[in-house]
Amino acid sequence: MHQLRMARCGPPADAVELHPQAPPIPGPGEVRLRLRAAALNPADLNFIEGHYGRQPDLPCVPGMEGAGIIDALGPGVAAPALGSLALPLTGPGNWATWRILPATAVLTLPPNLDPLQAALLRINPATAWGLLHAAGPPAPGSWVAQNAASSAAAHCVIQLARGLQLRTVNFVRRPESAAACRALGADLTFPDDAAGLAAARAALAGAAPPALAFNAVGGDSALRLLDLLGPGGTHITYGAMGRQALKVPNSMLIFKGLTLRGFWLSRWQEGLAPGEAAALYQRLAHLAASGQLRQQIDATYPLAEFRQALGRAAQSGRGGKVLFAMP
Ligand SMILES: NC(=O)c1ccc[n+]([C@@H]2O[C@H](COP(=O)([O-])OP(=O)(O)OC[C@H]3O[C@@H](n4cnc5c(N)ncnc54)[C@H](OP(=O)(O)O)[C@@H]3O)[C@@H](O)[C@H]2O)c1
Repeated sequence: MHQLRMARCGPPADAVELHPQAPPIPGPGEVRLRLRAAALNPADLNFIEGHYGRQPDLPCVPGMEGAGIIDALGPGVAAPALGSLALPLTGPGNWATWRILPATAVLTLPPNLDPLQAALLRINPATAWGLLHAAGPPAPGSWVAQNAASSAAAHCVIQLARGLQLRTVNFVRRPESAAACRALGADLTFPDDAAGLAAARAALAGAAPPALAFNAVGGDSALRLLDLLGPGGTHITYGAMGRQALKVPNSMLIFKGLTLRGFWLSRWQEGLAPGEAAALYQRLAHLAASGQLRQQIDATYPLAEFRQALGRAAQSGRGGKVLFAMP
């Protein structure tokens, strides 16, 4: 039984270390979660490198999201039931065999939910939901545009948008990513370049232009989304995979009246009313359990093969998420 720990920030393969883990004992009001799976997200890599929105409290166990089985209850805890599949509502801490959490910080999941899909529930589906609602209640029938459409977050946007009767126009940097977007319900998919933008404009001719655009890349890709938005539209940056700054022509603000803003799940959730986050995750869990929300899996690794897992998670052109799968 192992856990992964970091005692300093740095390149993930150097900063992360494997340690043996004995089963910890939950205290009053706590539960012990035996993790079944935990994802390796871009945010985890940034966090280990020290480039995330908050710095690690060192030493610590990385892993922003995961899911597991409740296998011990501390004194005074009556729920969740032993043996339930549960989602930790906080991270990091999930790259381990066990985790101790307050009973109030886990959410019971439908027992038929695949543990790998459960481990992918906390971040990208909630982000997609937050993005779709960030500019107010989404108007059925309207178009939403996004780049990095091969990402897990974008795949969640495509699927949740369908349920909200929104239509999506999606930009991918590799043409072979388009098929997976379409299989999930993408309405339109184009290469993320000038020709793709022209083709998107032509396909949307006669329709109301997109009012919302989600940017996870930056640079010229973000600019193409600004171009495609209709007057008064909202451009939301939530990722920076291309590591290039936004370039905003003055006309986009003066004549087109676009709103540019950012989105960070942690901050968005802090602003939710009590119980709202739990209600959202219940909704997302039921969509995932019924197959209406699914995320692609590229590969799973045991914790002991963390260097291979970290290497694979950092590669582009993956066919989905990389996860640690615990026995
Ligand atoms: N703000 C928030 O609260 C929040 C929450 C969740 C996610 N995010 C961000 O959203 C982004 C996607 O996360 P994810 O978990 O969905 O990622 P993911 O599934 O691991 O996918 C990564 C995506 O980034 C693309 N990509 C990688 N390098 C790129 C580059 N140099 N230029 C352009 N595109 C590149 C990949 O394209 P290929 O498939 O072609 O390799 C793929 O579409 C990340 O930036 C993440 O930090 C932010």
